Amino acid sequence: ERNIALDPTYNNVAYEVVRKHPLDHHNKELVEQLSLIEKQREIDGEARSALSYRRAISALISYPRKIRSWREAKKIKGVGDKIARMIREYLKTGTIQAAETVANSSRFLITSHFASIYGVGPTTARDWYGKGYRSLEDVLDAEGDTLSNVVKMGIELFPDFQQKMTRKDVEEIVEVLKEVLRGIAEGFVICPVGGYRRGKEINGDCDVVITHPEEAKTKNLLRQLVDALKAQGYVKHVLWYGEGHEKDQVSELRLQSGKKNSFDHLSKAFTGFRQPSTGINRQVDLIISPQSLYACAVLGWTGSKQFERGLRNWCKYGGVAAGHTFKGGYHFASHGLFDRRTNKRVHVETEEDIFKFLKLEWADPTLRNA
Ligand code: CTP
Ligand code: MN
Ligand code: MN
Repeated sequence: ERNIALDPTYNNVAYEVVRKHPLDHHNKELVEQLSLIEKQREIDGEARSALSYRRAISALISYPRKIRSWREAKKIKGVGDKIARMIREYLKTGTIQAAETVANSSRFLITSHFASIYGVGPTTARDWYGKGYRSLEDVLDAEGDTLSNVVKMGIELFPDFQQKMTRKDVEEIVEVLKEVLRGIAEGFVICPVGGYRRGKEINGDCDVVITHPEEAKTKNLLRQLVDALKAQGYVKHVLWYGEGHEKDQVSELRLQSGKKNSFDHLSKAFTGFRQPSTGINRQVDLIISPQSLYACAVLGWTGSKQFERGLRNWCKYGGVAAGHTFKGGYHFASHGLFDRRTNKRVHVETEEDIFKFLKLEWADPTLRNA
């Protein structure tokens, strides 16, 4: 038997699903400064460093009071020595020099601007910066003809996509989707997920999971829905389109994610969606799930990204939470929870079922802001 307490993986992974991460927490300014450094590390391709900041940030979000001393910070699992020293500096001076440096770095400002365009990742952003481009005009002048269609769309939609959405904006779009779905058939269920479900007031996009009690009704739904949205003038841009479970038999879905799809086996389309009341193009991510995968789809698309990371690690390695031991040996994906040994899917009806199965206490979506 493996000693979980001594397992370094467990020591580093378990807490995002065990701790509570409310939007309103006690260390906001500190988290803001560390987030800036985390973002810079991410854009500079320093994945390991970025991850250690994200872990510390999650730990601070869940910390039940304002941190008052370095000693206190050092004791928190997830906060390493280096970040603890930054916290000491913050407590002493009110700022973190490394965060100030990032905030004033024109390289960071420009590469993060590039990387916020849909279809442009950190590698392309750094590449453009390295070629001497300092604005989108520079990029278009030099590379206009060679850019992929997705990046062209990303640049076209950028002025709209950078405008944040309120909860009302999300709700308006969900109502439109309900109406369009009713035009296809009765009985569709639509669940707004992502940051909206976690209670965020301000959202980058609108993510929805759509299902139907009859499994057959979700087959080919993505095609029908996107076609209807185009025909009715809501969608002009499709940034990503991928059919998943429509191709594979749901019962055949295995542990491995689709390589081409890169994330999961669910059918999904990322669209530019013209919001009626404002005329602004919003990013709307449509995820279609057959009823049998719905619980996993909703859990997997609610996030946050760091919560999902913790969840996957918990499934794989197990851990101890509130006195209950979970042995691990499972794989979580938005298209199912799998036994790693047999590759068989565990049948779960609801999110609550999944938490129970994993021996985790229920975490309200608003506490998943890790
Ligand atoms: N997700 C995923 N695979 C992707 C993109 C997203 O599994 N390729 C899941 C993640 O769990 C993520 C959630 O969907 O947390 C929502 O993603 P996203 O819209 O990017 O982030 P939000 O948390 O909703 O934040 P924002 O307001 O910026 O949209
Ligand atoms: Mn989102
Ligand atoms: Mn999204």
